[in-house]
Amino acid sequence: MSENQVNTVETSNAGMEACCVVQCDLVLGENYWNNQYESGKTGWDLGMASPALVKYIDTLENKQARVLIPGCGNAYEAQYLLDQGFTDVTLIDIAPALVEKLQSKYANNPHIQVVLGDFFEFEGQFDVIIEQTFFCAIQPYMRSEYVKRMRKLLSAEGELAGLLFDTRFEFDGPPFGGCKCEYLPFFDEGGLRVDEMEITANSASPRAGKELFFRAGVKKSTDACVEDAACGIKQYASIAEKLQWNNTNQDKK
Ligand SMILES: C[S@@+](CC[C@H](N)C(=O)[O-])C[C@H]1O[C@@H](n2cnc3c(N)ncnc32)[C@H](O)[C@@H]1O
Repeated sequence: MSENQVNTVETSNAGMEACCVVQCDLVLGENYWNNQYESGKTGWDLGMASPALVKYIDTLENKQARVLIPGCGNAYEAQYLLDQGFTDVTLIDIAPALVEKLQSKYANNPHIQVVLGDFFEFEGQFDVIIEQTFFCAIQPYMRSEYVKRMRKLLSAEGELAGLLFDTRFEFDGPPFGGCKCEYLPFFDEGGLRVDEMEITANSASPRAGKELFFRAGVKKSTDACVEDAACGIKQYASIAEKLQWNNTNQDKK
C-alpha cells in the first residue's frame, strides 16, 4: 500500500475513530498525516484541551518554562498554556497543512513557535514536554527511539508528562495501544525515570478509564532502582521515593 492510500474504518475506539486505519503496513510519514488533515479524518481531535493536561498545566509554576508539544495537532493545550501566561511554547508537527494553519494563527505571537518537521530529528532543550496521542500515532517499533529523543530534548530537571492509552485497539493502528507494563521498560531503557503512570480520572469522556497519566524525568546517577508494584518491573526512581517505598514495604512486614 502506498503512503497516500489510507483505508479507514468506522469504530468507536476511545474517540479515535476517524483516524484509524485497517492495517499498518502504511508509512506513517508526512504524506499520511497531511492527508488525514486535508481529508478531515482527525478522529483523535478532542476539540478542546484535554482535562487531564489542563490539570497538569495548572500545577506548573514557572511560566517561563520552555514547553514543547510534539505531534501537536490542533494544539488546544498550547492555547491553554498561552492563556495562562506561558511565554515559551514550541509546537512541532510533520503535517504541512496543519502547520501552515497554526503558523498563520500564531504569526504575531512571540510566545509560541510552530515548527514543521520530524520529531525524531528535532533538536532543542525543554523544561516541559507534553504528550497526547503522539506516542500512539507512531509505529510501536519506534517507541524506544521516541524515549531516546525525549531524553535528548529534556533539560536535566525537565519533565515529560501526558497521556498514554491503557487499552488495545481491535485493529492495527494508528492508534497503537498498550499498557503500563509494556511501556515502562521503554522508558527505563531509554534513560527516563517514570515518576507517575496511573489511570487518570480526568480523561475526556470517550477515553475515560483508558488513559494513563504519566510524568517522567531524566534518570540521574543518584536514582535508585525500585520495583513497580503492579508489574513487578524494576524502575529507577529518586532516592527519596526509594526510601518511601522501602518504608512502606517494611511496614507491611
Ligand atoms: C493522532 S495525531 C494527535 C494530534 C494531537 N496531539 C492531538 O492530540 O490532537 C498525531 C499527530 O502527530 C503528528 N506526527 C506524526 N508523526 C510525526 C513525527 N515523526 N514528527 C512530528 N509530528 C508527527 C501527526 O501529523 C499528527 O498531528
